[in-house]
Amino acid sequence: MSRSLASLYSTAWRALVALLVVEIASVSALRYVTGSEPPPPPILANAYAHPFLLPHVVAGVAALLLAPLQFVGRARMRWPACHRITGRLYLAACAVGAPAGFMLAMGSTAGPVAAVGFAIPALLWPAFTWLGWRAAAERRFEEHREWMLRSWAITATAITLRLMLPASALLGLDFLPSYRAISWLAWLTNLALFEYHIRRTRRLVPGPTMALARA
Ligand code: HEM
Repeated sequence: MSRSLASLYSTAWRALVALLVVEIASVSALRYVTGSEPPPPPILANAYAHPFLLPHVVAGVAALLLAPLQFVGRARMRWPACHRITGRLYLAACAVGAPAGFMLAMGSTAGPVAAVGFAIPALLWPAFTWLGWRAAAERRFEEHREWMLRSWAITATAITLRLMLPASALLGLDFLPSYRAISWLAWLTNLALFEYHIRRTRRLVPGPTMALARA
């Protein structure tokens, strides 16, 4: 792929992710913060919706909004202190969002298959984030980048799930079996795609991470 085509592809991809993040954040705020849109009844029926849904949504939306900023190389190089502050906020968002997500997984009305399908990423999410943070603290910046990409893969499951659910409805698939399958497929797909990206770009990204090393 030529350089300009690769750059166009990357810009289009980032714009699409930004659009989806803003859309999901807005719908979540309307449903769970302002209350101007009704939340889906099966979610409200979750055994642990009270008290875990609101902190999960607020922290999840914060993580979803913060994570993409961390991967903008130019911003990272120009304002490394900002990258650190946003990184800590992201860490805090995962620390709240993941345990709350785990409790919601245990209370899902979709049964044990979906419960385990949601519980695994709820455990991987803080684990990857913690490994990423530790790598940065120990100035292993290439590993930091890789673990944070894996953490973002799990955060972005919120996007993939919300693309897969309407797609399964469009295909005329029954809701409950699709929901159970998607509780696994959403994060497995993300992890596989991000792992491919990590391996393909390993040792090809010298610049931005080095800015932190020098800071
Ligand atoms: C590891 C990551 C995550 C896990 C394991 C997780 C888990 C869950 C679970 C189990 C539920 C309840 C589903 C049910 O009762 O069937 C839920 C609901 C929800 N989660 Fe997450 N979640 C994660 C990340 C996120 C993120 C990053 C966001 C950011 C937007 C988010 C936003 C929501 C929202 C808005 C709901 C309510 C359902 C809806 O209105 O679509 N979650 N989550």
